[in-house]
Amino acid sequence: MKQIRFDFNNMFDSSVGKTHGVTANDLKAMSCLTAKAARHLKKVFASESSRINIGLEWTRLPLQNKSFVRVIQKAGDAISHKYENVISLGIGGSYLGLKAAQDALASSYYNEFASLRGGRAKVYFDGNNLDPDTLSVLLKNLNPKKTFVIVISKSGETTETKAAFAVIEAWLKKGVGKNYGRQIFAITDPKSGTLRLKVNAEQARDTMSLRNLPVLKGVGGRFSELNIGLLHLAIIGVDIQEVLEGAAYMAKKCSSEDIFQNPAYLYATLQTALYKKKGKQIAIMMPFSERLKSTADWYVQLLAESTGKKFGRAIRVAEDGTEVWVANKKKIVNVGRTPVPSRGTNDLHSIQQNNIEGENNKTVTFIRLEKFPHDIKVTGTGDFLEGKFYSKLLSIAQEATEWALVRESRPNCTIILPEINPYYWGQLLFFFEMATAFEGELLDVNAFDQPGVEGYKNYMYYKLRKPGIPKNVSEEIKKNPLVKKTKYLL
Ligand code: PA5
Repeated sequence: MKQIRFDFNNMFDSSVGKTHGVTANDLKAMSCLTAKAARHLKKVFASESSRINIGLEWTRLPLQNKSFVRVIQKAGDAISHKYENVISLGIGGSYLGLKAAQDALASSYYNEFASLRGGRAKVYFDGNNLDPDTLSVLLKNLNPKKTFVIVISKSGETTETKAAFAVIEAWLKKGVGKNYGRQIFAITDPKSGTLRLKVNAEQARDTMSLRNLPVLKGVGGRFSELNIGLLHLAIIGVDIQEVLEGAAYMAKKCSSEDIFQNPAYLYATLQTALYKKKGKQIAIMMPFSERLKSTADWYVQLLAESTGKKFGRAIRVAEDGTEVWVANKKKIVNVGRTPVPSRGTNDLHSIQQNNIEGENNKTVTFIRLEKFPHDIKVTGTGDFLEGKFYSKLLSIAQEATEWALVRESRPNCTIILPEINPYYWGQLLFFFEMATAFEGELLDVNAFDQPGVEGYKNYMYYKLRKPGIPKNVSEEIKKNPLVKKTKYLL
C-alpha cells in the first residue's frame, strides 16, 4: 500500500536562502533538543499511567479492538438507513474531526443528492455556535420522527452543546413522544458531567434510550476523532477499519526516534526551527482540494489549542514513574505558531497576495492529491485550456504556487496524498497529531490542555449566574470589569 509523503525541499536555505530557510547549522543546533524530545515522548508513550494522566491515550486509538469497531460500523449503518437525517451536536474537538471526515470521505454534495448517499441519512452539524439562526432553521425544516441525534461532549458541560441539546430534546419529545430518547446517541465522559448523569438515568429507565459510548480515558477533545468520530464515520458509510489502519501505519512510521525517519517529527522540527530562528509565526494550511478544507480547519484547532500557551511546562514524576504535566506558573512563555486555514486554488485570489508579498513571517503547508475521485476535461474554450483536465490544472496551480513562494524566499512544504480515501486520511490525521505532540515537546509546553479557553467560559458563567463559580474567579471578574468608554464609541 502506498503512503502519504512529506516533501520538505522548500523549507531549506538551498531553496529559500539562509535568512528564511532552515540551515544545516540550525538543525545541528537543535539536535540535542530533538533527540531529548523524541526520547521523552517514547518514554511517556510506553507508560499507560502517564499516557492517561497526560492525555496521550489517543496514540493507542489506531489499534482499537476490531470486533468493537464492527459493532459500531453496524450500529451506524442501521441508524443511517432508518432515519432521513442525523444531527451531530458538539463543538471544538467534539465537532471538527467529524466535519473534516465528512467533507473528506463522503462524496461532495453528500447532503444534497440522495443518489450520492445510497439510502443513507443526511448529516447536519450544530451545537458548535451560539448563533440562533442555524438551529432554528434546521428544526423548522426537519421532521423529528425522521431525525436521529448524536450529542458529543466529553465534559458534558459545554454551553454551546448543552443548550443545543436541550432545545433538540424538547423538539424531539414534542414530535416523537415519550420514547424520543431512542433517537439519541450520547458520547461523553464515562463518569462525570451532567450529560453522563442524564444518560445513566435514562438507561436505568429504558436501555434503548440515550444509547451511548464513553470518551476514552486520557483522550482529549482535539485528539479524539478516532474515538468520538467512529459512529459518525459509520453513518456516512466510511469503513472505520480502513481509517484506523491508515492511522496505525502512520503510528508505526512515527515511532522512530530519528527525526529523518519520522515525517511527523521532521515536520515539527522544521516548523519550530523556522518559528524560533527565522520568525515564521504564522502557519498557513493550504490543501489544494475542496474536500480537505475542513481538515485544515481541524488542524487549526489542533495546533492552536495544543501549542498556543502562556506558561511553560513543569513535569512531575510520581514514585511509580507516572508523569503529570502542569503549567509552570513561574515561566511565562507565550508561544505557539498561529494557524490559518486556507485552500487552493480559491485563496490564490485572496490570502496568497499576502503570503507572497506581505511580511515574511509564515510557512505554507500544502496538501496535494495525486489523484481525484472525479475529473473533468475542459472543452469549448478553443485556447490553451482546451482538452486539459481539471486535476492537471489544479496540480500545476499548486506547483506554480510553490514556485512563486520560493522565488520570494517564502518557506513552504507539501504533504502528498496518493488519493483521498479513508486509509490515507487516517494517515494524514495521525501525522498531524504526532507532529503537534512533538511541536509541543520542542516548545516545552503541555500540548494536551487548553487553560486559555477557560477565561471566556468563566466570564459567561459569571454573567449567566451559574452556581458554583469559584470565589477567586468571580472576585477577579468583579474587580476587573470590561470597561467601555463612550468616548471610544463612534
Ligand atoms: O480539544 C479540546 O479539548 C476542546 O476543544 C474540546 O473538544 C471542546 O472544548 C469541547 O469540549 P467538550 O467535548 O467537553 O464539550
